[in-house]
Amino acid sequence: MVSDMGVCYLLGYPVGHSMSAVMHNAAFRELSLEHRYELLPVRPGDLASVVSGRMRDPDVLGANVTIPHKVAVLGLLDWVEPEASRIGAVNTLVNDGGVLKGHNTDGMGAMRALLEAHEELRGSRVLLLGAGGAARAIGYHLTKNVEALIIANRTLQRAVELAEDLSSNTECVASVEACSLTTGDLKTALKEADILINTTSVGMAPHVDESPICADLLSPGLLVFDAVYNPMRTKLLRDAEEAGARTLGGLRMLVYQGAAAFELWTGLRAPEALMLRHVEEHLGGGGS
Ligand code: ATR
Repeated sequence: MVSDMGVCYLLGYPVGHSMSAVMHNAAFRELSLEHRYELLPVRPGDLASVVSGRMRDPDVLGANVTIPHKVAVLGLLDWVEPEASRIGAVNTLVNDGGVLKGHNTDGMGAMRALLEAHEELRGSRVLLLGAGGAARAIGYHLTKNVEALIIANRTLQRAVELAEDLSSNTECVASVEACSLTTGDLKTALKEADILINTTSVGMAPHVDESPICADLLSPGLLVFDAVYNPMRTKLLRDAEEAGARTLGGLRMLVYQGAAAFELWTGLRAPEALMLRHVEEHLGGGGS
């Protein structure tokens, strides 16, 4: 049974940058629910005890999981939804009467946002920056649709492993390759790319003048999607606009993945437009 005054958490480290509490608390109020959403900083060494302890208490509805726990949390749960298991990362926990279940709403949130901006993914060539939990989720969905995916990561080995995992999925129709985040490799990878997606944390507040990629590698034919949403206009997006490329910020992905989590916790349809408005107002009003 869902508690009348349930709590949802964000488990991450750090969590101070997150807009999830703003978005979910606004949605709880809108639907006259007495639930609340709290940011809970959890150091990597403490994740197992939080997941085996507090997360299973009767008043806890569930949690979102963010950097750096999306992959590590997988092994600590009672049940993982098959798609999250194939992705290899979990961003949403549901406490079902003490049984802790893992879901992944990141990939589907990103795909909804991407499809609004770029309707046809079939035949597209994508350069994906990063090889963490968000890259796993987005990469999993992309490889079911696009023609080619190149994964570029600071730690090359992680990109290689992700490329191998994605290509071994039976639903994968894309050619998948890995490269480093060096300018030379990125330049080669971008020659044929239609879409560039950043899933690294580079450019996130307070490091708002950093970008994962050199501005002069960006060109007008690209759609540049930055999963970072704080700030709303990252340096990568500003550089992309200047280069004449189309841009997509991370806000819609945030709201869509959050709305799917909200529906898992409450069984109710999330007020997405209201959630988006609250986050926009917060970030636009100096919330970064
Ligand atoms: P998430 O779950 O949000 O994807 P994550 O699993 O911690 O978070 O992954 C973070 C990603 O950002 C990784 O690809 C990481 O690169 P490494 O695999 O080399 O660690 C990338 N990242 C973080 N800080 C970075 C930096 N300063 N420069 C380049 N990449 C960075």
